[in-house]
Amino acid sequence: MSVHGAASVPSEPRRKVTFADLAAKKATGEPIAMVTAYDHPTAQIVDAGGVDIVLVGDSAAMTVLGYDSTVPVTIDEMLMLTAAVRRGLSTPLLVADLPFGSYEGSDELAVATAQRFIKTTGADAVKIERGGTSIDRARAIVAAGIPVMGHVGLTPQTAAVLGGYRSQGRTADEALAVCRAALALQQAGCFAVVFEAIPSDVTEAVMPLMQVPVIGIGAGSGTDGQVLVFHDLLGIYGGRPAKFVKQYARLRSVMIEGVAEYAADVRTGGYPAPEHGYSMAPEESARLRELLAGL
Ligand code: KIV
Repeated sequence: MSVHGAASVPSEPRRKVTFADLAAKKATGEPIAMVTAYDHPTAQIVDAGGVDIVLVGDSAAMTVLGYDSTVPVTIDEMLMLTAAVRRGLSTPLLVADLPFGSYEGSDELAVATAQRFIKTTGADAVKIERGGTSIDRARAIVAAGIPVMGHVGLTPQTAAVLGGYRSQGRTADEALAVCRAALALQQAGCFAVVFEAIPSDVTEAVMPLMQVPVIGIGAGSGTDGQVLVFHDLLGIYGGRPAKFVKQYARLRSVMIEGVAEYAADVRTGGYPAPEHGYSMAPEESARLRELLAGL
């Protein structure tokens, strides 16, 4: 199935990943693997694949809910998806994205929304986007006892003010703003920060100042770990993937072929075959026919 060759699937029993494990991985230079998931079977798959962190990203808006950006996804939709993922995970840390509009307005709103996610879904942590006012929101949520992951660079919830879905920090001044936001989120108590779609040079320049794990997506190889959207990495999502995506399978075409074969089988009588049906004792069948004849 893999277009890049087989990789080993962990077979040893594993223990639950902790925040301390992430810090230890940063200290020892062992890369952190993070991926998104949005439903129960996907959660079981990424769990079996042995990732360290699973993010129920608001990318769900596009990958599973059919919106054209992350902006419209609601708290209730994200709560339902996060709870489904929780039921499918055993070992990775579970991070829930707080959707656009659910935390920015005030510290009180941010804490209340974060508490709702932790209480009702069983997520271990929440993620919020941007520097600016999100630095205060991160500090408030952390002070309320909830671990927070920050997210800087390309922040899709506010892509409109960033000039669309494009890489960030391409000039020294813009890059400095991204670095300042990352450092402020670290200072605010975030346990990790995502760097999205920034030049590798920017990552390398700021990494010596980052004491918490940095997870990159389109930020080069200098981070402490990487994250990809499940549907991108397995080639499920249609359309052209972003430049930073590496596809490890092409499941969309496999799925379409499977459904097309099924539809053709139904139309030609190839499915169901006798082995797909249930049987009944011949005498019961004969009696049924008698009973029906007498109706
Ligand atoms: O929503 C998401 O999937 C994300 C990752 C790309 C980091 O925020």
